Amino acid sequence: MSDVLLPLRDGDFRFVSELVYARFGIRLTDQKRSLVAGRLSKRVRQLGFSSFTEYFDLLRTAGGADELSELIDRVTTNHSFFFRERDHFDALSREILPSLIGGSARSGSPVRIWSAGCAAGEEPYTIAMLISQAMSRTPGAGSVDAGVLATDISMAALLEAKAGVYAESKLRELPRELRSPYLRPAGPDAWSVSPAVRSLVLFKRLNLMREPYPFKSRFDVVFCRNVMIYFDPPSRARLVESIYRVVKPGGWFFIGHSESLPRESCPFAYVRPATYRKEGA
Ligand SMILES: C[S@@+](CC[C@H](N)C(=O)[O-])C[C@H]1O[C@@H](n2cnc3c(N)ncnc32)[C@H](O)[C@@H]1O
Repeated sequence: MSDVLLPLRDGDFRFVSELVYARFGIRLTDQKRSLVAGRLSKRVRQLGFSSFTEYFDLLRTAGGADELSELIDRVTTNHSFFFRERDHFDALSREILPSLIGGSARSGSPVRIWSAGCAAGEEPYTIAMLISQAMSRTPGAGSVDAGVLATDISMAALLEAKAGVYAESKLRELPRELRSPYLRPAGPDAWSVSPAVRSLVLFKRLNLMREPYPFKSRFDVVFCRNVMIYFDPPSRARLVESIYRVVKPGGWFFIGHSESLPRESCPFAYVRPATYRKEGA
Protein backbone atom coordinates (compact mmCIF):
# COMPACT_ATOMS: atom_id res chain seq x y z
CA MET A 1 0.00 0.00 0.00
CA SER A 2 1.37 3.47 -0.92
CA ASP A 3 2.67 5.63 1.94
CA VAL A 4 2.21 8.88 0.00
CA LEU A 5 0.09 11.34 1.96
CA LEU A 6 -3.30 12.23 0.58
CA PRO A 7 -3.93 15.99 0.35
CA LEU A 8 -5.92 17.28 3.33
CA ARG A 9 -7.73 20.35 2.03
CA ASP A 10 -8.67 23.28 4.29
CA GLY A 11 -12.33 22.24 4.38
CA ASP A 12 -11.43 18.62 5.21
CA PHE A 13 -9.16 19.68 8.05
CA ARG A 14 -11.83 22.05 9.37
CA PHE A 15 -14.38 19.21 9.28
CA VAL A 16 -12.19 16.71 11.13
CA SER A 17 -11.01 19.21 13.73
CA GLU A 18 -14.58 20.37 14.47
CA LEU A 19 -15.77 16.77 14.74
CA VAL A 20 -12.96 15.71 17.06
CA TYR A 21 -13.47 18.81 19.21
CA ALA A 22 -17.24 18.34 19.46
CA ARG A 23 -17.03 14.64 20.34
CA PHE A 24 -13.84 14.39 22.38
CA GLY A 25 -12.89 17.93 23.45
CA ILE A 26 -9.56 17.56 21.64
CA ARG A 27 -8.24 20.62 19.80
CA LEU A 28 -6.45 19.76 16.56
CA THR A 29 -4.56 22.97 15.95
CA ASP A 30 -3.05 23.87 12.56
CA GLN A 31 0.29 22.46 13.75
CA LYS A 32 -1.39 19.04 13.92
CA ARG A 33 -2.45 19.15 10.28
CA SER A 34 0.39 17.08 8.86
CA LEU A 35 0.16 14.63 11.75
CA VAL A 36 -3.55 14.12 10.99
CA ALA A 37 -2.90 13.72 7.25
CA GLY A 38 -0.10 11.24 7.98
CA ARG A 39 -2.04 9.13 10.45
CA LEU A 40 -5.29 9.08 8.50
CA SER A 41 -4.03 8.64 4.91
CA LYS A 42 -3.29 4.96 5.50
CA ARG A 43 -6.75 4.37 6.97
CA VAL A 44 -8.45 6.13 4.04
CA ARG A 45 -6.63 3.82 1.58
CA GLN A 46 -7.31 0.74 3.69
CA LEU A 47 -11.03 1.43 3.30
CA GLY A 48 -10.61 1.72 -0.46
CA PHE A 49 -11.18 5.47 -0.69
CA SER A 50 -9.00 7.77 -2.74
CA SER A 51 -9.61 11.06 -0.90
CA PHE A 52 -10.32 12.44 2.54
CA THR A 53 -13.60 13.83 1.25
CA GLU A 54 -14.92 10.30 0.60
CA TYR A 55 -13.71 9.19 4.03
CA PHE A 56 -15.39 12.11 5.80
CA ASP A 57 -18.61 11.39 3.90
CA LEU A 58 -18.58 7.98 5.59
CA LEU A 59 -18.19 9.64 9.00
CA ARG A 60 -21.25 11.79 8.28
CA THR A 61 -23.47 8.70 7.86
CA ALA A 62 -25.20 6.80 10.69
CA GLY A 63 -22.76 3.92 10.15
CA GLY A 64 -19.84 6.29 10.75
CA ALA A 65 -19.91 5.89 14.55
CA ASP A 66 -17.62 2.85 14.58
CA GLU A 67 -15.22 4.59 12.23
CA LEU A 68 -15.11 7.56 14.59
CA SER A 69 -13.56 5.24 17.16
CA GLU A 70 -10.90 4.19 14.59
CA LEU A 71 -10.25 7.83 13.81
CA ILE A 72 -9.73 8.84 17.43
CA ASP A 73 -7.36 5.90 17.92
CA ARG A 74 -5.22 7.34 15.16
CA VAL A 75 -5.20 10.99 16.11
CA THR A 76 -4.52 10.64 19.86
CA THR A 77 -1.08 9.95 21.26
CA ASN A 78 -0.98 7.10 23.76
CA HIS A 79 2.62 7.54 24.82
CA SER A 80 3.25 6.43 28.41
CA PHE A 81 5.60 4.29 30.50
CA PHE A 82 5.78 2.68 33.93
CA PHE A 83 6.63 5.04 36.80
CA ARG A 84 6.31 8.13 34.59
CA GLU A 85 6.67 11.28 36.72
CA ARG A 86 7.97 9.32 39.64
CA ASP A 87 7.29 11.79 42.46
CA HIS A 88 3.54 11.02 42.18
CA PHE A 89 4.24 7.36 42.79
CA ASP A 90 6.60 8.16 45.66
CA ALA A 91 3.80 10.19 47.27
CA LEU A 92 1.32 7.40 46.61
CA SER A 93 3.52 4.75 48.15
CA ARG A 94 4.88 6.74 51.14
CA GLU A 95 2.14 9.19 52.00
CA ILE A 96 -1.20 8.08 50.60
CA LEU A 97 -1.50 4.30 50.38
CA PRO A 98 -0.30 3.45 53.91
CA SER A 99 -3.11 5.54 55.39
CA LEU A 100 -5.74 4.43 52.83
CA ILE A 101 -4.93 0.72 53.16
CA GLY A 102 -4.53 0.94 56.96
CA GLY A 103 -7.84 2.83 57.22
CA SER A 104 -9.56 0.31 55.01
CA ALA A 105 -8.19 -2.62 57.05
CA ARG A 106 -9.85 -1.07 60.11
CA SER A 107 -13.09 0.22 58.58
CA GLY A 108 -13.69 -2.17 55.68
CA SER A 109 -14.31 0.74 53.26
CA PRO A 110 -12.90 0.08 49.78
CA VAL A 111 -9.90 1.94 48.31
CA ARG A 112 -10.66 3.23 44.83
CA ILE A 113 -8.22 4.86 42.42
CA TRP A 114 -9.03 6.11 38.92
CA SER A 115 -6.50 6.34 36.12
CA ALA A 116 -8.31 8.66 33.68
CA GLY A 117 -6.63 8.54 30.26
CA CYS A 118 -4.75 5.32 31.07
CA ALA A 119 -3.23 4.81 27.57
CA ALA A 120 -1.94 1.22 27.21
CA GLY A 121 -2.06 0.45 30.94
CA GLU A 122 1.38 1.59 32.12
CA GLU A 123 -0.04 4.05 34.67
CA PRO A 124 -2.78 1.85 36.24
CA TYR A 125 -0.47 -1.17 36.47
CA THR A 126 2.16 1.00 38.20
CA ILE A 127 -0.54 2.05 40.70
CA ALA A 128 -1.67 -1.57 41.14
CA MET A 129 1.90 -2.71 41.89
CA LEU A 130 2.12 -0.08 44.63
CA ILE A 131 -1.26 -1.11 46.05
CA SER A 132 -0.11 -4.70 46.16
CA GLN A 133 3.16 -3.69 47.84
CA ALA A 134 1.33 -1.53 50.40
CA MET A 135 -1.07 -4.38 51.18
CA SER A 136 1.81 -6.76 51.78
CA ARG A 137 3.35 -4.24 54.22
CA THR A 138 0.18 -3.47 56.18
CA PRO A 139 -0.86 -5.86 58.95
CA GLY A 140 -4.45 -7.07 58.54
CA ALA A 141 -4.70 -5.83 54.93
CA GLY A 142 -5.42 -9.29 53.49
CA SER A 143 -9.13 -8.60 53.16
CA VAL A 144 -8.86 -4.98 51.97
CA ASP A 145 -10.93 -4.27 48.86
CA ALA A 146 -8.64 -2.05 46.73
CA GLY A 147 -8.63 -1.50 43.00
CA VAL A 148 -7.96 0.75 40.04
CA LEU A 149 -10.46 1.80 37.42
CA ALA A 150 -8.52 2.55 34.22
CA THR A 151 -10.30 4.35 31.39
CA ASP A 152 -9.39 5.71 27.98
CA ILE A 153 -11.12 6.77 24.79
CA SER A 154 -8.87 4.66 22.58
CA MET A 155 -9.99 1.07 22.00
CA ALA A 156 -6.58 0.18 20.56
CA ALA A 157 -4.84 1.43 23.72
CA LEU A 158 -7.29 -0.48 25.92
CA LEU A 159 -6.70 -3.70 24.01
CA GLU A 160 -2.96 -3.35 24.56
CA ALA A 161 -3.59 -2.56 28.21
CA LYS A 162 -5.64 -5.71 28.68
CA ALA A 163 -2.92 -7.80 27.00
CA GLY A 164 -0.52 -6.42 29.65
CA VAL A 165 2.72 -7.22 27.81
CA TYR A 166 5.42 -4.53 27.56
CA ALA A 167 8.80 -3.96 25.95
CA GLU A 168 11.79 -3.25 28.19
CA SER A 169 11.78 0.41 27.04
CA LYS A 170 8.47 0.96 28.89
CA LEU A 171 9.89 -0.43 32.13
CA ARG A 172 13.15 1.46 32.50
CA GLU A 173 11.92 3.68 35.34
CA LEU A 174 10.36 0.83 37.31
CA PRO A 175 12.27 0.30 40.59
CA ARG A 176 14.09 -3.05 40.77
CA GLU A 177 12.14 -4.25 43.80
CA LEU A 178 8.87 -4.09 41.84
CA ARG A 179 10.13 -6.11 38.88
CA SER A 180 10.44 -9.65 40.11
CA PRO A 181 7.26 -9.80 42.17
CA TYR A 182 5.05 -8.23 39.51
CA LEU A 183 6.48 -9.02 36.05
CA ARG A 184 7.05 -12.31 34.22
CA PRO A 185 9.36 -12.77 31.21
CA ALA A 186 7.29 -13.07 28.02
CA GLY A 187 9.94 -13.16 25.26
CA PRO A 188 13.35 -11.68 24.38
CA ASP A 189 12.24 -8.07 24.95
CA ALA A 190 8.86 -8.53 26.61
CA TRP A 191 7.47 -8.64 30.11
CA SER A 192 4.00 -9.62 31.18
CA VAL A 193 2.20 -8.14 34.18
CA SER A 194 1.51 -10.72 36.90
CA PRO A 195 -2.04 -12.04 37.42
CA ALA A 196 -2.12 -10.55 40.94
CA VAL A 197 -1.52 -7.04 39.56
CA ARG A 198 -3.94 -7.50 36.67
CA SER A 199 -6.69 -8.57 39.05
CA LEU A 200 -6.53 -5.13 40.72
CA VAL A 201 -7.28 -3.21 37.50
CA LEU A 202 -10.54 -2.86 35.59
CA PHE A 203 -10.27 -1.35 32.08
CA LYS A 204 -13.22 0.48 30.53
CA ARG A 205 -13.74 2.81 27.60
CA LEU A 206 -14.84 6.26 28.71
CA ASN A 207 -14.93 9.61 26.96
CA LEU A 208 -13.90 12.20 29.55
CA MET A 209 -15.90 14.82 27.67
CA ARG A 210 -19.14 12.91 28.18
CA GLU A 211 -20.55 13.84 31.56
CA PRO A 212 -21.93 12.89 33.99
CA TYR A 213 -19.60 9.94 34.57
CA PRO A 214 -21.33 6.63 35.27
CA PHE A 215 -19.72 5.85 38.65
CA LYS A 216 -21.54 4.42 41.64
CA SER A 217 -19.05 5.67 44.22
CA ARG A 218 -16.27 8.22 44.54
CA PHE A 219 -12.50 7.88 44.36
CA ASP A 220 -9.73 8.30 46.92
CA VAL A 221 -7.22 9.26 44.24
CA VAL A 222 -7.56 10.32 40.59
CA PHE A 223 -4.69 10.39 38.11
CA CYS A 224 -5.50 12.44 35.01
CA ARG A 225 -2.01 13.11 33.69
CA ASN A 226 -0.93 14.25 30.25
CA VAL A 227 -4.52 14.15 29.01
CA MET A 228 -5.61 17.77 29.43
CA ILE A 229 -2.84 18.90 27.08
CA TYR A 230 -5.26 17.97 24.30
CA PHE A 231 -8.08 20.17 25.57
CA ASP A 232 -8.73 23.89 25.31
CA PRO A 233 -9.17 25.95 28.55
CA PRO A 234 -13.02 25.70 28.74
CA SER A 235 -12.94 21.90 28.22
CA ARG A 236 -10.14 21.61 30.78
CA ALA A 237 -12.12 23.59 33.35
CA ARG A 238 -15.18 21.38 32.76
CA LEU A 239 -13.08 18.24 33.09
CA VAL A 240 -11.57 19.39 36.40
CA GLU A 241 -15.06 20.20 37.77
CA SER A 242 -16.33 16.77 36.70
CA ILE A 243 -13.37 15.04 38.32
CA TYR A 244 -13.82 17.10 41.49
CA ARG A 245 -17.37 15.77 41.84
CA VAL A 246 -16.17 12.15 41.80
CA VAL A 247 -13.32 12.56 44.32
CA LYS A 248 -14.00 11.81 47.99
CA PRO A 249 -13.45 14.67 50.48
CA GLY A 250 -9.75 14.53 51.40
CA GLY A 251 -9.02 12.69 48.13
CA TRP A 252 -6.06 13.39 45.83
CA PHE A 253 -5.80 14.57 42.23
CA PHE A 254 -2.66 14.27 40.10
CA ILE A 255 -2.10 16.01 36.77
CA GLY A 256 0.92 15.92 34.43
CA HIS A 257 3.89 18.12 35.31
CA SER A 258 3.61 19.97 32.01
CA GLU A 259 -0.03 20.84 32.78
CA SER A 260 -1.37 23.49 35.12
CA LEU A 261 -4.69 24.51 36.68
CA PRO A 262 -5.64 28.18 37.12
CA ARG A 263 -5.47 28.76 40.89
CA GLU A 264 -8.42 31.24 40.97
CA SER A 265 -10.97 28.86 39.43
CA CYS A 266 -9.61 25.47 40.53
CA PRO A 267 -11.91 23.72 43.03
CA PHE A 268 -9.06 21.59 44.41
CA ALA A 269 -6.55 22.83 46.98
CA TYR A 270 -2.99 23.06 45.68
CA VAL A 271 -0.53 20.77 47.48
CA ARG A 272 2.61 20.91 45.33
CA PRO A 273 3.29 21.02 41.57
CA ALA A 274 0.88 18.70 39.72
CA THR A 275 -0.65 17.53 43.03
CA TYR A 276 -4.03 18.66 44.39
CA ARG A 277 -6.44 17.65 47.12
CA LYS A 278 -10.15 17.99 47.74
CA GLU A 279 -10.68 19.68 51.09
CA GLY A 280 -12.75 18.00 53.79
CA ALA A 281 -12.73 14.54 55.38
C1 LIG B 1 -0.40 10.79 26.56
S1 LIG B 1 -1.55 9.63 27.13
C2 LIG B 1 -1.30 9.75 28.90
C3 LIG B 1 -1.17 8.40 29.56
C4 LIG B 1 -0.86 8.46 31.07
N1 LIG B 1 -1.93 9.11 31.79
C5 LIG B 1 0.46 9.10 31.33
O1 LIG B 1 0.51 10.21 31.88
O2 LIG B 1 1.48 8.52 30.99
C6 LIG B 1 -3.10 10.49 26.91
C7 LIG B 1 -4.30 9.57 26.84
O3 LIG B 1 -5.50 10.35 26.93
C8 LIG B 1 -6.48 9.74 26.13
N2 LIG B 1 -7.57 10.68 25.81
C9 LIG B 1 -7.51 11.77 25.01
N3 LIG B 1 -8.72 12.35 24.94
C10 LIG B 1 -9.57 11.63 25.72
C11 LIG B 1 -10.95 11.72 26.05
N4 LIG B 1 -11.74 12.71 25.53
N5 LIG B 1 -11.47 10.80 26.86
C12 LIG B 1 -10.70 9.81 27.38
N6 LIG B 1 -9.39 9.65 27.10
C13 LIG B 1 -8.82 10.56 26.28
C14 LIG B 1 -5.68 9.28 24.90
O4 LIG B 1 -6.35 8.26 24.19
C15 LIG B 1 -4.37 8.81 25.52
O5 LIG B 1 -4.34 7.43 25.78
